[in-house]
Amino acid sequence: MSKVVILDYGSQFTQLIARRIREAGVYSEIHPCTASARDVAAMEPDALILSGGPASVGGEEAPGLDAGLLDLGVPVLGICYGMQLIAHALGGRLERSRSREYGPARLEKAAGCALWSGIESLESGSTARVWMSHGDKVTSPPPGFTVTGRTESLDVAAMGDASRRIYALQFHPEVHHTECGVQMMRNFLFKVAGITPDWSMGSFAGRVIAQVRRTVGDSHVICALSGGVDSTVVAVLLHKAIGRQLHCIFVDNGLLRRNEGEEVTGLLTRHFDLDLTYVRASEQFLGLLAGVDDPERKRKIIGHAFIDIFEKEAAAIMASGHDVRFLAQGTLYPDVIESVSSKGPSAVIKSHHNVGGLPETMRMQLIEPLRELFKDEVRALGAELGIPEAILRRHPFPGPGLAIRIAGEVTGERLEILRHADAVVQEELRASGWYHRVWQGFAVLLPLKTVGVMGDGRTYEHVIALRAVESIDAMTADWARLPADVLAKISGRIINEVEGVNRVVYDISSKPPATIEWE
Ligand code: XMP
Repeated sequence: MSKVVILDYGSQFTQLIARRIREAGVYSEIHPCTASARDVAAMEPDALILSGGPASVGGEEAPGLDAGLLDLGVPVLGICYGMQLIAHALGGRLERSRSREYGPARLEKAAGCALWSGIESLESGSTARVWMSHGDKVTSPPPGFTVTGRTESLDVAAMGDASRRIYALQFHPEVHHTECGVQMMRNFLFKVAGITPDWSMGSFAGRVIAQVRRTVGDSHVICALSGGVDSTVVAVLLHKAIGRQLHCIFVDNGLLRRNEGEEVTGLLTRHFDLDLTYVRASEQFLGLLAGVDDPERKRKIIGHAFIDIFEKEAAAIMASGHDVRFLAQGTLYPDVIESVSSKGPSAVIKSHHNVGGLPETMRMQLIEPLRELFKDEVRALGAELGIPEAILRRHPFPGPGLAIRIAGEVTGERLEILRHADAVVQEELRASGWYHRVWQGFAVLLPLKTVGVMGDGRTYEHVIALRAVESIDAMTADWARLPADVLAKISGRIINEVEGVNRVVYDISSKPPATIEWE
């Protein structure tokens, strides 16, 4: 299989480089920039990419470049800081700068270059928009290099030595704002390095499964199932690797949507034959939440109760004689807040918000088979593993569940009202074809009652707020313009079918300043 190695110098975009390469059908790995030429040679890459990074070449504690990397005969692409390292190592000149250039710039071709192939704007002498984020700059390229691109502020915005197959770009081809950046990267992979695209989710799964088998050996693994896509995919993937050496724990906190627990665990036990402990803990959670209306306290209570229960169940599995050494988590790329950068491979992981705090208390080694993947890749992997679309394409659901969609105190009665109203929302979104057009759609139970009229009588009952948003990554969101007839159907059904509700309102706030969830 073809392989591209990316050395990570700490850029916030390193993951994007990996992603673009994989989108092009080529397997890529990110390694710390401390890797030596020998280390990299042993990885047998077909191409090497040096990422950007925040440091200044030659500065104190600035990560360097083992110059031997440029003599491996492997094609190299340096991006931003990577370009400066190449220039520095091979005898070019750099200029320090205190100010940073950040944002769009217009790139103009200075000389023909394999990377510009098929990019109309550059080839025709016009300019292409590129995205800059740098301080220092290269002022003259090393011997043997040709300046291939310039911008208004940079005489050397791109350079290359075709005979050694070493190329460098001061801008970031991996970000969307760089027009034709994808084409430039593809040109590097296919035209310069002559790579054949041969990577797919199927091959990824095969590789991870083999890796997990090697790592786990005869020992056992515990996995917390949340019902979400990530942990479901982790469980199925690990099951394929180690079968009954995997033990899953699903804690039903009573704050789930209608039928949710059964749907997920039913699939996993019946279809995939997983060893799964289903813990019914609804009463325990409700007891702890009694009288609590502060959102943050609710979250804390739910998080701590989950850990308590999980630990107890995990201890029981160990006590039954299994040599449990690993804890599996559905950590994704975006969860890895500090990339495997100059500090070496000891990445710091954000405590996964569904399983917060577990690793510290449980002293197990982590297995995170999805940590190289983005959300859409996890879905593709899930499909590859035979998990039904209905589960893979479910809307995100917060760890604290319906508790943060009930403003005020969480009681059994209020949960029932919300669960019923939410089921109507889910059904109608699906029936109208809007389910997959929105990022999330759900009901919220408000902490007030309003007056209504039903038949001949006055009513005084609960209000349900409907929330449906469009979003790409949940960082920002806009309220979904659901058609009036869909809204009417949802409202009519909730008021008619859900006892205790006489009014439905639609939330038309965007994020920011509102958040997606109400609490
Ligand atoms: P907000 O409300 O912050 O939500 O705009 C952004 C996204 O995150 C989800 N969310 C959570 N997920 N545990 C989770 O696993 C949580 O505590 C939590 N809070 C919010 C929310 O559903 C939305 O998709």
